[in-house]
Amino acid sequence: MSFLQHCSLLTLLVLFLFFQIPVAVLSFQYKVGDLDSWGVPPPSMPGLYSLWSKNHNFTIGDSLLFLYPPSQDSVIQVTERAYNTCATSDPIRKMTDGNSVFNITAPDTFFFISGNRVHCQKHQRMQIRVPSADGKFFPPPGADAPAPAAAGPSSYANAFGPMPMGLRSGAGSGAVGGLGISGVAGAVGSVIAGLFFWILV
Ligand SMILES: *[C@@H]1O[C@H](CO)[C@@H](O)[C@H](O)[C@H]1NC(C)=O
Ligand SMILES: *[C@@H]1O[C@H](CO)[C@@H](O)[C@H](O)[C@H]1NC(C)=O
Repeated sequence: MSFLQHCSLLTLLVLFLFFQIPVAVLSFQYKVGDLDSWGVPPPSMPGLYSLWSKNHNFTIGDSLLFLYPPSQDSVIQVTERAYNTCATSDPIRKMTDGNSVFNITAPDTFFFISGNRVHCQKHQRMQIRVPSADGKFFPPPGADAPAPAAAGPSSYANAFGPMPMGLRSGAGSGAVGGLGISGVAGAVGSVIAGLFFWILV
């Protein structure tokens, strides 16, 4: 293989990586708590959801997947006040189908609790903070927000990675498919890389 061909292959490789990696992390679907069941945390780990939330960086375009037996639980999005008091009567959004996807579409702090007040009181609640595109958090951490309780080994939250956002079915099965956006961008990258290759050879 000639020197030039080596260079071309290298260019191709570099361009391929350059276009693939940045777009592959555009959006994720996070399974809440990395758990197959949104439920009351074990007594040994009351801060499970706070810890999980703290250990992930959420961005606009990501989504949260709450899985639970619909006969036993639900998830409601509430105000900060309702979050703090486990008030379930006036939710912002109520999700009950057992396979609930919450799309993150704006920078904010989002509060979720179980639709079952007793479950919420047993720490089945979670808040996530989503920064704006420039990385700033909005609103600033509220003074009356309780500090998330730290509990459990930190390795727990990182035991599973986030799921890449897949080509989900209408039913929201949560199945992981291909990366839609990165597929297109990757193809563009490959075409450009191919052109470089063609010019160099
Ligand atoms: C989240 O972002 C912070 C600061 O940019 C970084 O140090 C940390 O590794 C990130 N965590 C994850 C799980 O990506
Ligand atoms: C969330 O986004 C997905 C894909 O963009 C869409 O199919 C789904 O209807 C959205 N769900 C809600 C509750 O807006």
